[in-house]
Amino acid sequence: MIAPKPKLLGPDSTIGILGGGQLGRMLALAAARLGFKCHIYCPDPESPAFDICRRFSEHDYTDWHALDRFANEVDVVTYEFENVPAETAAFLSARKPVLPDPQVLATTQDRLSEKSFVTGLGIATAPFAAVHSLVELEAAAAAVGRPAVLKTRRFGYDGKGQVSIRDGSDLAAAWRDTGEQPCILEAFVPFEREISVIAARGLDGKVETFEVTENEHHDHILKISQVPARITPAVATEARRIAETIATAFSYVGVLAVELFVVPDGAGHAVLVNEIAPRVHNSGHWTIDGCSVSQFEQHIRAIAGLPLGRPARRGRRVEMVNLIGAEAEDYRDWLRVPGAAVHLYGKSAIRPGRKMGHVTRVEE
Ligand SMILES: Nc1ncnc2c1ncn2[C@@H]1O[C@H](COP(=O)(O)OP(=O)(O)O)[C@@H](O)[C@H]1O
Ligand SMILES: [Mg+2]
Repeated sequence: MIAPKPKLLGPDSTIGILGGGQLGRMLALAAARLGFKCHIYCPDPESPAFDICRRFSEHDYTDWHALDRFANEVDVVTYEFENVPAETAAFLSARKPVLPDPQVLATTQDRLSEKSFVTGLGIATAPFAAVHSLVELEAAAAAVGRPAVLKTRRFGYDGKGQVSIRDGSDLAAAWRDTGEQPCILEAFVPFEREISVIAARGLDGKVETFEVTENEHHDHILKISQVPARITPAVATEARRIAETIATAFSYVGVLAVELFVVPDGAGHAVLVNEIAPRVHNSGHWTIDGCSVSQFEQHIRAIAGLPLGRPARRGRRVEMVNLIGAEAEDYRDWLRVPGAAVHLYGKSAIRPGRKMGHVTRVEE
């Protein structure tokens, strides 16, 4: 079957979104502002995005009847998470345009193919090696060196599926801790800073990158993002060039995020890609209140065939803080802070490590 071609969407069109988390919710809010309707597809009955859309389907990603109905009711399909099963994306793309193209999912769902793709573009990453057994882990540790990080190739997020390998670490125990799944071993990067670039590429191939964001993780979970990042103009230019190169290489349509490490290198710095997210990203949440166009609106514009916005930061500095777990209970205090924009995702159950909301402050 020939995949239907993406086209310019009229004002009353319906955007189908796979995944009903906070990213889907914020995408739907941005879509509504541009006059679009959203249909959210997610198996989780507690999906935060269900609260604010025209329609939702609460079905599994392999419920082909439900997916067929969904495809019939939408004009384009996009996703807010990268673990959409390949067969689901293939099924939908035979019926409606799926943007970004599902081949991007295949590459980015697997840390090994992702890193191989990036290095194939001549872009640096931490040294890495594939690991499928304890014997391979021993060889990889010798090749990559210690300290290192052992990561499952698939389904990792917020530091899940990662084990640190230090000088005295027992490799057999580390291999067991990953569940003996296909992994990669990466050299530990002694970074000065972590940064990210959110890039958007339109149907016409034009790319717009947002200003480089500096990110601070606590317990492997993003805690604070700030712009401007405290980096040199050379690092900023290089990071944005890398994101644009990746978006172009994928013939991407929509928003993607590239996470990078900044490492001291002689008199200057080297920039290494850590990972790619084929979707809107937590480190871009500051753009809702702190930029002339948000990452969410930019994604909707791209997949609808509309012109991209030219991102311009508001204020001298913007900071976004995630409300994680019980921190969300403090939201009333945040509401008293002058200039603080409080975003709550409507999740009923507070769990440790769960992203419950965020607060953005734009400093004039
Ligand atoms: N090779 C590495 N060297 C140093 N720190 C790392 C490395 N890999 C991951 N980290 C730290 O762990 C965080 C989460 O890892 P990441 O690979 O981005 O996985 P995910 O975000 O999918 O959980 C990174 O943002 C970084 O702080
Ligand atoms: Mg990450």
